[in-house]
Amino acid sequence: MTARLVPAADDATGRRERPLRITVDGEALDGFAGQSIAGVLLAAGRLAWRRGPSGAPRGVFCGIGVCFDCLVRVNGEPDVRACRRRARDGDTVLTQSRAGGGEEAGDEGASGSSAALPAPAEEDNSDTEDGV
Ligand code: FES
Repeated sequence: MTARLVPAADDATGRRERPLRITVDGEALDGFAGQSIAGVLLAAGRLAWRRGPSGAPRGVFCGIGVCFDCLVRVNGEPDVRACRRRARDGDTVLTQSRAGGGEEAGDEGASGSSAALPAPAEEDNSDTEDGV
C-alpha cells in the first residue's frame, strides 16, 4: 500500500481542498478536510505510531476499524481508531503504546515520536492474536 493523496486538480469528483493542521506528539502535520487521522499520518510518511505488547510497531492494518492496530489518543480521548476518525483542524493527537505490558489508555503519549520505530519490514507479528 502506498500513502498518497490525489491532488484536487486530478480528482474526477471535483473536490476542493480545505487544509487543516493537527499535532501528533507535538509535531504539526498538515492534511485536508475529509482525511482520517491515519490518512494524515500516512501522507506525512508515518507508517507506524504505536507499539503492541511485544514492542512491535503498529499503524494501519485493516483500515476499516476492525483490528484496532491504529489506536491513538485524540483531544484527550484514549483508544481512538485513527482509521475511523476524521481529522479536524486543531486536533491534538498523542501516540499510545502497550510495549512492556503498559496500559495503552493511560500512556498519554509515553511512546513519544514514531521516529524511533524500526522499519515495518522488521515487524514482529507475534502479538496479533489479541487484536490490539
Ligand atoms: S487500522 Fe484496523 S482499526 Fe484502524
